[in-house]
Amino acid sequence: MTVLVSGGGSNLQALIDAQSSGELGTAEITAVIASKPGVYALERAAKYGIPAHTVCRKDFAHSAEWEAALLAAINETQPELIVLAGYLSILGDGVVRRYAGRIINIHPALIPSFCGKGMYGLRPHIAALERGVKVTGATVHYVNEIPDGGEIIAQKAVAVLPEDTPETLQQRVMEEAEWLILPQAVRQFAINN
Ligand code: GRF
Repeated sequence: MTVLVSGGGSNLQALIDAQSSGELGTAEITAVIASKPGVYALERAAKYGIPAHTVCRKDFAHSAEWEAALLAAINETQPELIVLAGYLSILGDGVVRRYAGRIINIHPALIPSFCGKGMYGLRPHIAALERGVKVTGATVHYVNEIPDGGEIIAQKAVAVLPEDTPETLQQRVMEEAEWLILPQAVRQFAINN
């Protein structure tokens, strides 16, 4: 599978650890593509000898050129599955159409809550705290042309604590939800396909 990243790569690390422990079954991380250079996710890939590429929107004058370059980079890795793991760019329709049904994303909220355009990083957690929900969590879903709009694959709930800040909530959602349901969803995809 090819894993797309943009930041710290803790979800990539969860996949790497699951592969090492056999929890991914027949699924294997064969490439990483980052949306910008220098992100820690690339250091995680290098440490485990996973081939990595960077396709950065800023390197292209027009989004169509960037989308074409990203599609070409993905095609070269010949993935049976694409996993968006903390990936912050919105995929172009070219990638979504070419790999329909074979792209999954981890979102740090219980879709349909706190999702959609602009809802990434700390923002879903800020919104959850502002709304005063007592439970939040994470969702793994297929990617289609609507941001966070694809079919839901798995979800896991996490309690919101009175003393939570966006940062403490984000960390607990990653530890108790994201890092568990993403490897499980990848394993199940490999079994089903
Ligand atoms: C996390 O909040 C994750 O939920 C979201 O991106 C953030 C960083 O993910 N998808 P990672 O540590 O780069 O995997």
